[in-house]
Amino acid sequence: MTREKPKNLWLSRWGFILAATGSAVGLGNIWKFPYITGEYGGGAFVLMYLACILAIGIPVMMTEIAVGRRGRGSPIDAIGRVVHENNGNPLWKAVGGMAMLSGFLILCFYVVVAGWAFAYTWKMLDGSLAATSVEALGGVFEAHNANPWQLGGWSVLVALLTLWIVAKGVQQGIENAVRWMMPGLALMLVALVGYAFTSGSFDAGFAFLFHFDASKITGEALLAALGHAFFTLSLASGAILTYGSYVPDGQSIARTTFMVAICDTLVALLAGLAIFPIIFANGMSPSAGPGLIFMSLPLAFQQMPFGTAFGVLFFAMVSIAALTSAISMIEATVAYLNEQHGISRLHAAIGAGAVLLVISLLAMLSFNLLAGWTPLGKNFFDWLDYLTSRWMMPLGGIFMVVLAGYALRCDILREELNLPPTGYALWLFMVRYVSPVLILVVFLNALGWLLFDPVQRWYWIAGAIGLLAVAGELLRPRVTSVLIGR
Ligand code: TRP
Repeated sequence: MTREKPKNLWLSRWGFILAATGSAVGLGNIWKFPYITGEYGGGAFVLMYLACILAIGIPVMMTEIAVGRRGRGSPIDAIGRVVHENNGNPLWKAVGGMAMLSGFLILCFYVVVAGWAFAYTWKMLDGSLAATSVEALGGVFEAHNANPWQLGGWSVLVALLTLWIVAKGVQQGIENAVRWMMPGLALMLVALVGYAFTSGSFDAGFAFLFHFDASKITGEALLAALGHAFFTLSLASGAILTYGSYVPDGQSIARTTFMVAICDTLVALLAGLAIFPIIFANGMSPSAGPGLIFMSLPLAFQQMPFGTAFGVLFFAMVSIAALTSAISMIEATVAYLNEQHGISRLHAAIGAGAVLLVISLLAMLSFNLLAGWTPLGKNFFDWLDYLTSRWMMPLGGIFMVVLAGYALRCDILREELNLPPTGYALWLFMVRYVSPVLILVVFLNALGWLLFDPVQRWYWIAGAIGLLAVAGELLRPRVTSVLIGR
């Protein structure tokens, strides 16, 4: 079978690395990572998180890029072609469909959060953050959310910017945008860490992030680390797979993946090093939750020299990080409409954007007019978050590794990954045995089905990996023929 000719390719080796890093680095890194690190015990959590990135994040990301590049298309098409190359069952395309839908639904609520960052960049400038206490700043945050026009306006602005960039195409739009946004982001981060270094509380921030306490290694924390590894690398949501489909043939997938994962982790750690010293220097609590950066940081910025400048820098950085992530969430949908249905990227972006605006409008209104509409105890915003991160992403992740590890003939992805034998064996072991079991555990845990105690849980997991390895090796030919549907 002849391979599909790529329609779009990144212009340079850096195109993919910057775009994928842009996708990976987002609110997950700048807000969530430092916060959950504090919650789950600092250095011990950082270590577990790094282990999860290595054991699952990197193998799964390599798989997504390899499938994307092999199939040369949006998730549905790429998976369809790769499976077709195995004479497999076209039903596997549903995995691509679900990934695409996950990315789209994540964007529906992500624009609201990104809108906060954009709004706060502006508010830093226009003086509306001049309140003098955390409570008063909390009031500003609530007032912002209570006003549907204000909240909605900023969210719509983010959505329009995202669609505009994506409509312009892979090279002209996305690659062009990330080429200046990512270095800008890096510079802002360095400036902020530099400031934090001189703030007098750098040591406290550093200790908070890196103090290792072995007693903090618990099952719960490992699960949190695992879930975050998935989210922060934008896996199982069509983003990386679609970006992977634009990677030129000669580029090393493994090396590229490591670059992206290292950059993503570095940004998370640096964000922690920038934020916590500022919080500690101003005597605030590091565990303030979702409002942390919006309610306490503006107060800290007021009290420091050149605070307005640093504040603008900070929220602009969060905005850019969120925007480069948002782009990746809708790219799969636009690529799909463009490649599969021949709709121009502009029209695809307008069409997808119209649906996006309707669904995200409900997410925006969850904070004001529709705040009382909480079917089964969650408002619409929370439902989107819950459905995507608790159900769709873990499910998509499992299907992806099962596809790569069991259903596809080995030579296809081996050729695509082009690794030395040990590297390939290691990847295969992770994808076949380690990732499915660990993702399944996260998934079951989210459902509340893993009730045995956290320490014992890890014996079960190790046992399950071992069992699966033995059973998988014995039964694999049969498993493969069942999965591929022949
Ligand atoms: N990785 C981004 C973050 O850390 C979020 C993100 C971007 C994402 N694209 C995604 C999450 C696709 C899931 C799916 O904020």
